[in-house]
Amino acid sequence: MDKNIKDLKILIDSNSLNKRIKELADEINSKYSTNEHLTIICVLRGAVMFFAELVKHLKMPIKMEFVSLSSYGDSFKSSGKVKSFNLSLPPLKDENVLIVEDIVDTGLTLDFLMKFIKINCKAKDVKLAVLFDKKCARKFDIEPDFAAYEIDDKFIVGFGLDYCGLYRNLDYIGYFE
Ligand code: IMP
Repeated sequence: MDKNIKDLKILIDSNSLNKRIKELADEINSKYSTNEHLTIICVLRGAVMFFAELVKHLKMPIKMEFVSLSSYGDSFKSSGKVKSFNLSLPPLKDENVLIVEDIVDTGLTLDFLMKFIKINCKAKDVKLAVLFDKKCARKFDIEPDFAAYEIDDKFIVGFGLDYCGLYRNLDYIGYFE
């Protein structure tokens, strides 16, 4: 389906997003010790802007890792399969891990990734922070530990989120009517 940026409506503006992400970072800071390091895994590509903003406000020593996963393809709906991935990670045995993702929708992607990190990497603790929780679309048993916003079943773009690879660079969250 052809979409035009002119038809995009603003759902959350840039100032509100940054303010809310700072609040979420404060919540995360309160749940971890400042003496122990945390490994933060950014799920590419959608989480990139959320991740970059969030880590600026975290107080504990952190290590940054990146994985890439995709379940949507060029569509408004999940394909139902984790399609492409690159999961090269260092050993995470006994590490505290925080996964940072743009949005949890059906939960397929995060179900796959969380099982991989818990079982294969034997991390001590794995938590999940998302910018958006689309609870109403859930098909897998995934509950974020930290979520900036809960949204209804609408397709959003901007701040890392894309449609057909576009709109990730917007500093606000928009939707097509
Ligand atoms: P899930 O595996 O069904 O939970 O889907 C998660 C992935 O689908 C996210 O990482 C996004 O890439 C994509 N996704 C889900 N909802 C949206 C949306 O509203 N806009 C853009 N991408 C979305």
